[in-house]
Amino acid sequence: MRVAVIGAGKMGLPLAAFMASRDLTVAVCDINKELVEEINSGHCPIEEPGLPEILECSVADGNLVATTETVEAVCQADVVVIIVPALINDEYDIDLSVLESVTEQVAEALHPGLLVCFETTVSVGTVRTRFVPILEQSGLKCGEDFHVCFSPERVKSRMVLQRLSETPKVVGGFNEKSCRLGEEFYTRALGAEVLDVGTLEAAEFTKLVGMLYRDVNIALVNQISRYAETIGMDLGRIIPAANTNGEAHLLLPGIGVGGHCAPVYPWFIIRDAERHGVDLTLAKTSRSLNDGQSEHVVQRLEEELGGLTGRRVLVLGLAFRPQVKEPAFSPAFLVREALAKRDAEIFLHDHHFTAGEIGDHGFRTGELDDPDGWDALVLVTGHRRYRDLDFKSLAAAGLKVVVDGRNLWSPDSIRDEGLSYIGIGR
Ligand SMILES: NC(=O)c1ccc[n+]([C@@H]2O[C@H](COP(=O)([O-])OP(=O)(O)OC[C@H]3O[C@@H](n4cnc5c(N)ncnc54)[C@H](O)[C@@H]3O)[C@@H](O)[C@H]2O)c1
Repeated sequence: MRVAVIGAGKMGLPLAAFMASRDLTVAVCDINKELVEEINSGHCPIEEPGLPEILECSVADGNLVATTETVEAVCQADVVVIIVPALINDEYDIDLSVLESVTEQVAEALHPGLLVCFETTVSVGTVRTRFVPILEQSGLKCGEDFHVCFSPERVKSRMVLQRLSETPKVVGGFNEKSCRLGEEFYTRALGAEVLDVGTLEAAEFTKLVGMLYRDVNIALVNQISRYAETIGMDLGRIIPAANTNGEAHLLLPGIGVGGHCAPVYPWFIIRDAERHGVDLTLAKTSRSLNDGQSEHVVQRLEEELGGLTGRRVLVLGLAFRPQVKEPAFSPAFLVREALAKRDAEIFLHDHHFTAGEIGDHGFRTGELDDPDGWDALVLVTGHRRYRDLDFKSLAAAGLKVVVDGRNLWSPDSIRDEGLSYIGIGR
């Protein structure tokens, strides 16, 4: 079986290499020429545990080839998997420009018998109403001459290879036969359990509702955390206890929710529901509660310091998740906004990024051992490296307040150094 995977990014490349390691012949297509050359030289261009090994082997044995020639790769494929990004525009609505241009390329090379699988998260109805008509411009008929599936990618970067065969693969198709072909393909390609949910729309909805659940769940604990802070209770003890009855599945509160997924996908469902006359108030409130966490903690910091004008604040972490180099929609940006409007002097530390990269994201780089010291630290990312900070030395250098946006530290050990501690929901 010959597969063309379009998009050799954090998701597409591990997926392509994984399928190649299962003896499929895979061409991974990307517009980035340097990336393609690097893959073909057997080097892994992204940080993904286990990927360098399977990529090197698959390239060496000829099962994996990278190319910028998408149309040619599709011509030679039995199955096409599309995993290029969907974007979000200024109105918080889905921007399909990249996906539509890729679909046009697939249409150019469409041939009878081809199975086209979309994996990028999109609004309900997108594949049938936006992509199938583009593919049918080829003159071939969907569901008869060629087939289309939607199968959302539900694994996380840095855990892709481990999760690809463990996470049930949700599949929906254009019609019954498309579903069956999708099910057969993913069973062969991933070795994972395949869940046929019946239609393209059901598969699109499944991914979105899973993401929405996560955002609403976090918003709930974030709101409850304000109550816990006020009455002096520690949610860190209460949530694990509440979760023991098999009915509650509460996540943890924090300084905000970042990444490509949680802050973005709820909007795909909110906007589409609006088009259908349905107002998803809970989803919208959750988005604003989660984004409002940064303002809330900065307000608490302002009260603690008696004002932030001219105060030197070091933000710890640009990545949206610990141990990754990925700044997409990081709460660090909202923290900066909240600090800037109070005229604080803002610096950022994240050892996963160079000073140049930190500068490109609009921050001044700061070091923990800066001789001028800091008035406050604001922890955004729970990187392992931050677990054991020397609070004694930091206090001696002038530190006054620690904002623990991920509840990473023990409040008592920080207070023992004469520092004020602000946690979330504790
Ligand atoms: N990153 C995650 O953790 C994650 C998790 C689950 C699902 N997803 C899904 O995967 C999608 C892709 O995410 P990603 O993290 O791999 O993105 P990415 O930005 O890492 O990679 C996208 C790749 O697509 C390439 N590309 C862009 N336009 C192209 C074109 N016209 N032709 C060929 N290649 C093109 C880019 O050069 C890039 O290499 C997301 O939109 C999302 O729906 C991502």
